[in-house]
Amino acid sequence: MATLYNQYRPKTFGDVVGQEFTTRALSNQTENGTVSHAYLFHGPRGTGKTTTARILANAVCCGEGSEPCLDCDICWDFANDEYVDLIELDAASRGGVDYARAITEFVQHLPVMGQYKIIIIDEAHMLSKSAANALLKTIEEPPEGVIFCLCTTEVHNIIPTIRSRCQEYKLRLLNTHDLLGLLRSILTKEEKHLEDEVLNLLIRKAEGSPRDAISQMETALSLDIQDYTEISRILYGMDPLGIDTLLSAINTGDSRKWADYVKNYGVNLDIVAEAIQDFHSQLLGLKNTLFDYEELAFILRQLNNAYAQAKKEDTLAIVSSIILLAVKHITDNVEVLEPDF
Ligand SMILES: Nc1ncnc2c1ncn2[C@@H]1O[C@H](COP(=O)(O)OP(=O)(O)OP(=O)(O)O)[C@@H](O)[C@H]1O
Ligand SMILES: [Mg+2]
Ligand SMILES: [Zn+2]
Repeated sequence: MATLYNQYRPKTFGDVVGQEFTTRALSNQTENGTVSHAYLFHGPRGTGKTTTARILANAVCCGEGSEPCLDCDICWDFANDEYVDLIELDAASRGGVDYARAITEFVQHLPVMGQYKIIIIDEAHMLSKSAANALLKTIEEPPEGVIFCLCTTEVHNIIPTIRSRCQEYKLRLLNTHDLLGLLRSILTKEEKHLEDEVLNLLIRKAEGSPRDAISQMETALSLDIQDYTEISRILYGMDPLGIDTLLSAINTGDSRKWADYVKNYGVNLDIVAEAIQDFHSQLLGLKNTLFDYEELAFILRQLNNAYAQAKKEDTLAIVSSIILLAVKHITDNVEVLEPDF
């Protein structure tokens, strides 16, 4: 049986959650016939890069306007992964020059079904150097009706000559509100129920990735666990009260409270560090607006306060090292906050 996240892969731009900038631009382009010949979709894993590329391909080939009609032969073939004028290549396993040559060959022939031939390259950063070079010319000036969609989590590893030929879209981590909406809508269609506090815990663990959130929910459903404490133990290896105490302590800069918890319960430091990292990456993913820098500054200030306080007292050595870990995690992930223009 298909995994839940494959079963609920969005079929239209309207179904894609939280990526309005990208989906609006692309649906306008399909509507107005201003589609480009090369796209680059990048962003964190499981945020909808491949999905968006497939919807774009489908909408363009269907030709009914801003969205795939989901009713014609072409859309039917797309839904069944049978569309003959589409190639989807995973460069992680097929990134060699032979595959690049096969693509160059593929685009030389006229489309069978309609006016377009589409090439989706997943994990495009894994194309070998020679493969990338072999594709360069075709991506630069593809034959009429050929569209390339490159998808990657590592945009900095796409060679600049290819990158500069593509129209670029950055997909984002989703905020809690959008993830909650997504999980609830899937639950409704599945005619299942989970309490919001359980969903929130699953979402926290997903770090802003819709695929991970759906996947966590599938695990919870398959284990038939409804109970918050039990899910928390499975996901985090500790009870939710402990995690919440720790998180609220770090966010108020009250490292004494935190140290007490560590002393009393002897928590596993790896788990604690992971919980803090999860929590903060979620905060980072929360608001992709210009104000994010303020949010970041606030979190860093709180962490610095907690660190300064912890450093003063020897018994808080453990706490201070965890805080440092969290700071490192945040600064490592700071590019999440960069505004797109
Ligand atoms: N923005 C989104 N809205 C709704 N569902 C989404 C979204 N992004 C991802 N999903 C869910 O996650 C699944 C995987 O998405 P997709 O394969 O497009 O992610 P990706 O960004 O290409 O991931 P990867 O980096 O691993 O290639 C989809 O089938 C869908 O169920
Ligand atoms: Mg993908
Ligand atoms: Zn159609």
